[in-house]
Amino acid sequence: MPPAAPLDQLGRPMRDLRISVTDRCNFRCPYCMPAEIYGEKYEFLARPELLSFEEIERLARLFVELGVEKIRITGGEPLLRHGFPRLVEQLKAIEGVHDLTLTTNGWLLEKHAKFLAEAGLDRVTVSLDSLDDEVFGRMNGRGFDVSRVLEGIDAADAAGLRPIKINCVVERGCNEASIVPLAERFKGTGHIVRFIEFMDVGTLNDWNLAKVVPAAEIVERLHSVHPLRPADRRYRGEVAQRWEYEDGSGEIGVIASVSAPFCGDCTRARLTIEGRLVTCLFAAGGVDLRGPLRAGESAATATPRNARPRPIQRAARRRGRGSRCTR
Ligand code: 5AD
Ligand code: SF4
Repeated sequence: MPPAAPLDQLGRPMRDLRISVTDRCNFRCPYCMPAEIYGEKYEFLARPELLSFEEIERLARLFVELGVEKIRITGGEPLLRHGFPRLVEQLKAIEGVHDLTLTTNGWLLEKHAKFLAEAGLDRVTVSLDSLDDEVFGRMNGRGFDVSRVLEGIDAADAAGLRPIKINCVVERGCNEASIVPLAERFKGTGHIVRFIEFMDVGTLNDWNLAKVVPAAEIVERLHSVHPLRPADRRYRGEVAQRWEYEDGSGEIGVIASVSAPFCGDCTRARLTIEGRLVTCLFAAGGVDLRGPLRAGESAATATPRNARPRPIQRAARRRGRGSRCTR
């Protein structure tokens, strides 16, 4: 019999596991990996410091035994990790994983979508902050244009990686004007655009409250053009507030991490690139699982049961390593 799903000190079960597979990214979104900090001299982790696919799989199995049903692979940009589809296959083979997803910036998606679907990936979330090349180029920090990401989204659609979610971080003074066009572009397609409040994720992204466009304002902007009504939450721990178009042409989501934090309901755990268990995006440290795993301890003693879940901590301004993919 598998052990009963543990609850943390706030009574929350652990249902979702986010696994970061690389700290590298080909984008330099200023809100996540500002180019001034993640420049040529920045030292990314060396290969031996990363968990291997076998180590990730082994830990994932233990998490699934403890109640995890959903696994999301994040980065950096996961598609940069060499041999990535093999990891998808390994994770898909774990009994009890009901939803296997990936967050990507979409740049390499056109090339990989079909293989990812064949490897067993269920769906994807693609980050896209604007349809305007100028604005998008600034927000990805590299001047990359939108069309290639849209091609990636189409390829994912054709490969059946649905429903596709499109993540748009909204930053005041940058891309508020992109809210309505982005929503319109995907209205009626079955893809779900989710607008995310700009957060302080500890990567020195020059965050301040004035740059946050509150979720209520995002909804209002859209509602004034395309009437919306609130939709019911689908499951405990759902981070996005759902809104449906009144004309029945689909839904959007808003993630109000700053104006209405959803910590009380959070069911997520995170496995960092170098194998630390972190129960909150804003947590300071985490619990090292790689050390015991490599030291050859038995699987049982390396389980996250040993990890004392921390109560939620407010943004600890750590000079953390690597980017913080938040969804
Ligand atoms: N604020 C909000 N969301 C962020 N993301 C990364 N950094 C931030 C931030 N500072 C999210 C984006 C992207 C995903 C990988 O992480 O939604 O889609
Ligand atoms: Fe890369 Fe995603 Fe961070 Fe942008 S948000 S820098 S695409 S990891």
